Amino acid sequence: MDRKAFLKYAGASAGFWLAPSVITSCTNGGAYKPDSYRYPLQLPDILDSDQLRASRDNLTIAEQYTLDGLQFNESLPGPTIRIKKGERFQVQFHNNIGEESIIHWHGMIVPPEMDGHPRDVISEGSYSYDFKINQRAGTYWYHPHPHRITGPQVYRGLAGFFIVTDDEEEALNLPSGEFELPLVIQDRKIDSSGTIYYDPSMPERMMTGYLGDHILVNGVPSPYHEVQPRPYRLRLLNGSNARIYNIALRNGNSFTVLGSDGGLLPRPVETTELLLAPGERADILMDFSNGFSGNSAELISKSFSVPSNGGMMGNMSQMMGQGGPEQGSEFSLMEFRIGNKTGSSSPVDLPQQLSDISFPSQEDALRIRSIEVDMEMMRGHTINGRLFEMLRVDEEITRGDTEIWEFINNSAVPHPMHIHAVQFKVLSRTGNRDIIPTETGWKDTVLVMPGERVRVIVTFDAPKGLYVFHCHNLEHEDAGMMANLEIT
Ligand code: C2O
Ligand code: CU
Ligand code: CU
Repeated sequence: MDRKAFLKYAGASAGFWLAPSVITSCTNGGAYKPDSYRYPLQLPDILDSDQLRASRDNLTIAEQYTLDGLQFNESLPGPTIRIKKGERFQVQFHNNIGEESIIHWHGMIVPPEMDGHPRDVISEGSYSYDFKINQRAGTYWYHPHPHRITGPQVYRGLAGFFIVTDDEEEALNLPSGEFELPLVIQDRKIDSSGTIYYDPSMPERMMTGYLGDHILVNGVPSPYHEVQPRPYRLRLLNGSNARIYNIALRNGNSFTVLGSDGGLLPRPVETTELLLAPGERADILMDFSNGFSGNSAELISKSFSVPSNGGMMGNMSQMMGQGGPEQGSEFSLMEFRIGNKTGSSSPVDLPQQLSDISFPSQEDALRIRSIEVDMEMMRGHTINGRLFEMLRVDEEITRGDTEIWEFINNSAVPHPMHIHAVQFKVLSRTGNRDIIPTETGWKDTVLVMPGERVRVIVTFDAPKGLYVFHCHNLEHEDAGMMANLEIT
């Protein structure tokens, strides 16, 4: 941030502290519930070309909202990439949006020049990607990664699924075809004229991130989807800039977690709620065959509390969302309308073990690296006291080493911490929360609530070179909450 913008920030937030309206907005609980689920869910097409064109388009969403949008191949969300382990992925990215961009394949372990490091941005023309899929099946995704403007580009539409399949997973015969639904959940702000807009205030940039008041699933506001009374596989992606969801069913039914960021869990885990922070994925099995009255299953985000990290800063930061319901508010996400049984559907027989995983053990770790995140009044969110610099190497790691990274959140807001080029295993978390079901598998993004210390174990096997790690709250990332790691 240059010095002038800096002073502006400082001034704006000082004024904000004193505004009495902030205090009264605290009491706004903000459970957002649509009058009805009016629009059918859309499913993104499968990418069937080796070209990804990003363009800027004026969009009308659900016949009533307008968006100065950005799209991949004229689709929002972008086309779904589906590819099998062992195959080669080749695509040419064309940037026609009029500003810098580059694509990152979130969760994929690829060479540094294929990873969408912000130093590789192009402002026009194209960038060629070509890499082999060396990793296990899982729900990964892709989105832009230019420094300072990732938030608005994702918000305006640039994001899509990157689904990897493999033999181990296929052998399980999980619901597929029309019974497998990729769902990207994103919150948006819509003004009284129906315009979807991105205009984070200083406190939103510096504290909470941009929290919307309407939910889009696959680009459709509060959609419905007709399902049969049988199990479905839902691949959930939190593609929101800042909002965390606590996935649940309105009637309290349980569901089964099958996978996380990096693919199948060792064993299925049953739960009634599941926190999903920006960047994270959850692969779940939802059975619509019984327990729903009125043939309606409502997917919601149950309210949850963000631990306060003491003092006025903690409390204030939670209230500064300006308009959008605060972090932890309840939301309705979408409705499944359960039809009659058509034909015979085989029940899904889940084995006790989904996948044979050997995680690195603590004894293998050569060191513990502390990654402290904090909020500094004049600078915003820092990682080990620093803001992002394009080429400064912040962490140097020897290729092949196993390390424990300890994320320490000294600030008053949640940070979903994401490391490129790896999948890691969560070892422990201090505070009041335990390891959650998705954290029993491979992860690339982990939620670190205020006051928490979360330890993950990770082996750096990716090709040598420069990658980033950062907070996946995109306003935080854009404000510099990102650092470089170099594998040497
Ligand atoms: Cu999805 Cu560097 O992030
Ligand atoms: Cu990533
Ligand atoms: Cu953050």
